[in-house]
Amino acid sequence: MAKSKLAQVPAEHLPVHIGLIMDGNGRWAAKRGLPRTAGHKKGAEVFGEIARHCRKIGIRYLTVYAFSTENWKRPADEVEALMKLLYQYLNDTFKHQDEDARICFLGDPTPLAPKIQQLMQRIQQESAANTAITVNVALNYGGRDEIVHAARRLAQQCVQGSLTPEQIDEPLFSDYLYTAGQPDPDLIVRPSGELRTSNFLPWQAAYAELVFMDVLWPDFSPAHLEEAILQYLTRTRRFGGI
Ligand code: IPE
Ligand code: IPE
Ligand code: MG
Repeated sequence: MAKSKLAQVPAEHLPVHIGLIMDGNGRWAAKRGLPRTAGHKKGAEVFGEIARHCRKIGIRYLTVYAFSTENWKRPADEVEALMKLLYQYLNDTFKHQDEDARICFLGDPTPLAPKIQQLMQRIQQESAANTAITVNVALNYGGRDEIVHAARRLAQQCVQGSLTPEQIDEPLFSDYLYTAGQPDPDLIVRPSGELRTSNFLPWQAAYAELVFMDVLWPDFSPAHLEEAILQYLTRTRRFGGI
């Protein structure tokens, strides 16, 4: 790509945490007369390229939406193909742990196949000490599901007597989310042309800047990412102040 316009931007102005809704794989494939799975395959490759680019330009946290709690509604053969691709992708990732990326998974892993869960655990453990970037993969993730899980765990502690309802405040609640200990996203980017967030990080993105782009995820390039960051840099963030 052409020389980065971001090169002149001081590192402290960059978003610390970027969220990406990787959408549009099916439409990308349909436009080419290919099966939807071909779009998912290309989409997985693009994820690797974008994650490497984020690390290169100094982004500290990247969260990508890979499979939502609502995506189980899709035809069984598409879900099966997605799971197969996911397993292959995670297996390859596991073999090439040379990116210095800490990988975390956000979501409820329990409905996933045991061999996928094992790989997820191994990748998380083996990459835990990596420091260049944290890459969160939202897998069987749903924001409402995440909040319900957190509420349930807090309620259990209250019932057991180790917590009182009065002790529950925003920082404590955040500690019970899948993103515990991580900063909230500064920028959420959704390609594909859809103008919604589809249950992605509703708690954490309360003050995120949103950028919607008219490009399908498999066509998303480092230049698109930089364009989204440049848009982010033009925004005035007030967080309710003046
Ligand atoms: C995103 O692409 C991938 C997943 C949701 C798993 P889609 O499969 O939603 O692609 P479109 O939106 O139908 O084009
Ligand atoms: C959001 O995309 C989920 C992922 C990208 C994994 P969807 O394609 O599922 O979202 P909707 O159905 O268009 O809202
Ligand atoms: Mg979609």
